[in-house]
Amino acid sequence: RLPASVEALIGQMTVEEKCGQLTLMAAAWAGGAANALNPISATATFDEQLAQVRTGRLTGVFNGNGAEMARRMQTVAMREQRLKVPLLFAADIIHGFRTVFPMPLAEAGSFDADLAERTARAAAVEASAAGIDWTFAPMVDIARDQRWGRGIEGAGEDLLLGKVMADARVRGFQGRRGLTADDAVAACAKHFAAYGAAEAGLDYNTVDISERTLRETYFPPFQSAFAAGAPTTMASFNELSGVPATANPWLLDTILRKEWGFGGLVVSDYTGDEELIAHGFAADAREATKLAFLAGVDMSMQSGFYIKHLPDLVAKGEVPMARLDQAVRRVLALKAQLGLFDDPFRRIDPRREKQRVRTAAHLKLSREAGARSIVMLKNDGDLLPLAKSGKKIALIGPFVQGQRELIGTWNVYGSDAEAVDLLTGVRAAVTDPSLVTAVDGSGITDAIPGGIEAAVIAASQADVVLLAIGESQRMSGEAQSRVDIGIPQAQLDLAQAVLATGKPTVVLLRNGRAMVLEKPVLDARAILVTWFLGSQSGPATADILFGDMSPSARLPVSFPYSTGQQPYYYAHKTTGRPNPPGPLAEYKARYREGPSAARFPFGHGLTYGRIAYSDLDLGGGRLNTDGALKVRARITNSGTRAATEVVQLYIHDVAASITRPVRELKAFQRVALAPGESKIVEFTLRADDLRFIGTQNRPTVEPGSFRIWVAPSAEADGVNGSFVLA
Ligand code: IFM
Repeated sequence: RLPASVEALIGQMTVEEKCGQLTLMAAAWAGGAANALNPISATATFDEQLAQVRTGRLTGVFNGNGAEMARRMQTVAMREQRLKVPLLFAADIIHGFRTVFPMPLAEAGSFDADLAERTARAAAVEASAAGIDWTFAPMVDIARDQRWGRGIEGAGEDLLLGKVMADARVRGFQGRRGLTADDAVAACAKHFAAYGAAEAGLDYNTVDISERTLRETYFPPFQSAFAAGAPTTMASFNELSGVPATANPWLLDTILRKEWGFGGLVVSDYTGDEELIAHGFAADAREATKLAFLAGVDMSMQSGFYIKHLPDLVAKGEVPMARLDQAVRRVLALKAQLGLFDDPFRRIDPRREKQRVRTAAHLKLSREAGARSIVMLKNDGDLLPLAKSGKKIALIGPFVQGQRELIGTWNVYGSDAEAVDLLTGVRAAVTDPSLVTAVDGSGITDAIPGGIEAAVIAASQADVVLLAIGESQRMSGEAQSRVDIGIPQAQLDLAQAVLATGKPTVVLLRNGRAMVLEKPVLDARAILVTWFLGSQSGPATADILFGDMSPSARLPVSFPYSTGQQPYYYAHKTTGRPNPPGPLAEYKARYREGPSAARFPFGHGLTYGRIAYSDLDLGGGRLNTDGALKVRARITNSGTRAATEVVQLYIHDVAASITRPVRELKAFQRVALAPGESKIVEFTLRADDLRFIGTQNRPTVEPGSFRIWVAPSAEADGVNGSFVLA
């Protein structure tokens, strides 16, 4: 409900001023960061934008350049605009502001909601001090095809992890003091919906998907985000079974408003309404405007279509005034929630902007988050952790040194120049930095003359090699789909030569998605997945390498054997001819050339402990529909180092009216274990956890038998058994 004074504004607005409240543009200040990043749209100059503010034709801008820009624009709105409606400043705060945190996919691997909440909070504290009211985050799209480059902005392939991270990030961005707090930013759950289900992993591509799968897999993270209080959502670029999401009344009205009761604001993605023409859904700009607006998109980002075409559509009676007022009310409600009517400058404070960014506490958190996002895939003969003294270390690869390739994609305000590279991190960790050498050995996609020779010399002279290889930060993110998710050949050649020296080698994978790892990379004694970790990339990696922290993250996405398996995700169906493990069987669901399993499955990750699972206890093994089943298992660390184990509980519904995935993650816990320590981990399973979307697309719980695993990954046996839902 709007305060009466704000509600009264609607009655005073002209139709054009109303449409201005629905028009959001990339900031033009000093070129405007978003325009530089995404040059599709025409740009206005800053003075032209100020003129739009003055006449009330603009509700706000996004991806602007800080408090000073915001102050100038807001001052014009407050002094010179007829109704003095405050502007809204939005931005893509995806994984930090000036302090950059690990990419969201990496951080999801921590399986740690508290961590995700804390990094989102820190990002909001910094961004809000620069005048930002609203972030276009979190991205809560489930991503099951690793060719799709935008998976890096989400929480990976799993539904439960996606829900948990969506909830945590919304809470983090918005804080616990309410949205009026000067350090709160409003969250935007995006992209609604099923943007991650693009055919062939091609960004923006067609999505043709069953309603059941939408309800069961793609919708729940949005529902979590809304339950956590996200007041906005962004319509996705893709079409959904023939109807673009941006003009999809079933999605934006039937589901979102009527079924879920969402009362917040729907914004288009960047020129999403304009793209209805290219989709072949609208004949021209006017029709695109009408279709998007009537379907439920309240605010238009970047095309300018609403300010251009809505007034005429309203005048001709093709768009009811009531719908226009409804959308304006939602925008004003967001501004009111953010406290902008009480104080339009509450987040605009150039002094605070300097004080709150890149604080020691935030940089420390970035380092902690970085270390807690690193996944150890392999550690033969306990090569890791490395000793800090007495060893000559050769850092080899295109990612070992220099202010580049550190923070990852889609960070408008952070910079590689302010991040710490691997060489610096390693040198700071060892007792004698002069024992650490570095050589690139190769470019990311191209060989460099003499590179391999120099790398081989460096490796030969060292006791241990750290080989940092993988993808550039431009190879994942928006519009960065790949047909081959392997490591570029030039780097494989480098790896081949380095491993041929026989020196113990740790591969430090730099990646924005699950990758195909093959020989020679798999021959390395140890492999760490180091993603793009942000401001403290080097020190965070060193913390793991030298054992100041034990690796504790798990893969949030399955690493397949080959790209041809995509989309591969652990929660697939069995088929009528499941492929048994072992040698290839004929006429089974199998590929001729390789397994149809994961090379490294979802949930996999090693620690410096020696972890064993035993003693599964399912009580009576019977769950009543209104009761609870206590599931207990013993987790033991028989190693000599402390470890945190992510204990995962999976189930499989043996026979159901709708076929069920081979496994579904239902719960997880991070369990800290001292050397030699053993703990009983307890989960509580309720009938609700066994719910699925049944016939008629309605949630249902069916009695029957279930298999259950308490295990270290989605494809590990762990300890397992069966229970019955009675
Ligand atoms: O928020 C983003 C979205 O995820 C992709 N298109 C551009 C938007 C605004 O920058």
